[in-house]
Order: sequence, then C-alpha cells, then structure tokens
Amino acid sequence: MSRLDSFINRVTAQRACLNYLAPLVAAMPGPVLELGLGNGRTYSHLRELFPTRDIWVFEFEVAAHPDSIPPDHLLILGDFRKTIPAAPAWIGAPAPLIHADFGSGHADKTAAMAAWLGPRLRPLLARGGYVASDQPLQVDDTEIVPLPPGAVAGSYNLRRSL
Ligand SMILES: C[S@@+](CC[C@H](N)C(=O)[O-])C[C@H]1O[C@@H](n2cnc3c(N)ncnc32)[C@H](O)[C@@H]1O
Repeated sequence: MSRLDSFINRVTAQRACLNYLAPLVAAMPGPVLELGLGNGRTYSHLRELFPTRDIWVFEFEVAAHPDSIPPDHLLILGDFRKTIPAAPAWIGAPAPLIHADFGSGHADKTAAMAAWLGPRLRPLLARGGYVASDQPLQVDDTEIVPLPPGAVAGSYNLRRSL
C-alpha cells in the first residue's frame, strides 16, 4: 500500500471512529483527551463534536494550525512518559473518550511508545469509556470494538472499557 493510501485510510478512519463514538459517550460525564496534537486536525474535529466539553491535549510542543491551538489551561506540554502518569491528578475526572494519535515514521519508537502508553491509560479512562488510537494499545479491562462503517479494517483501533 502506498503511503498516500495509508494516510487516507488513517484520516478517514479517524473521522469515522470519532463520529461513531460521539453519540456513544454523549451521556457520560468527563473530559475528552487528545494525545498528539500535531497539526490539530483531529483536535478541530473533536471541538466540533464536543463543543461543551473540556478537551485536554498532550503534546511535545505546539506546532498546530493557529485555529486549532488549545487553551493554555487544557494543554499539557512534554513527553507522554512524564505527563501521562501525572495526568489523573491534574484532570480530576476519568475520560469517556481518549483519542491517541502519536505514530511517526519511526516504527520502532512508535511501537515502544504504544507498549508503554497502553497500560498507563487505564487510570485516565472512565468505566464504559472508549480509546481510539492509531496504534494498537493494550489497556487493562478493555475489549476491542469493531471499527464502524467507513473505516478500513486495520486502519485504526477502538477499545471499550469493561
Ligand atoms: C500524527 S501527529 C498527530 C496528528 C493530529 N492528530 C492531527 O490530526 O493533526 C502525532 C503527534 O504526537 C506527538 N507525540 C508523539 N509522541 C509523543 C510523546 N511521547 N509525547 C508528546 N507528544 C508526542 C508528536 O509531537 C506529533 O505532533
């Protein structure tokens, strides 16, 4: 598969998954978490889907489109390895939706981060909440959820807390 096809599959699946999950978490309290701001495209989409919720954003450094920069009080800068373990105390409530999109061209580094991150998301996730991610993640007490229509199999990953 070309990198263009792979990119299109990923962003198409992102939109399909986030659109699918929005009504499923609508009745659940709590913030949304965005791990990996990047250009801010998925953050922009989350803001449209969740206009009244706090969306906490985790990122090394801001390099997003000017229209998609989170407010300072919801932006946690630094390496996930430092910020994620401290995040439950800062945020104060479990999240019904965690979106994690952190892959890069460095397959080894991305796989190592996925292996480290998955177990660390459990304390941040509400019971019955969902994790949508570009990488497969192992999160305790969650089950895999099939991708919604419009997402190519294997192009994204969904898990639901038990
Ligand atoms: C693929 S981009 C995210 C794209 C974004 N979802 C969008 O729609 O524009 C991945 C982002 O994750 C961030 N990232 C990757 N590993 C990280 C880490 N360990 N700590 C903080 N940020 C990280 C990178 O800096 C990068 O901006």
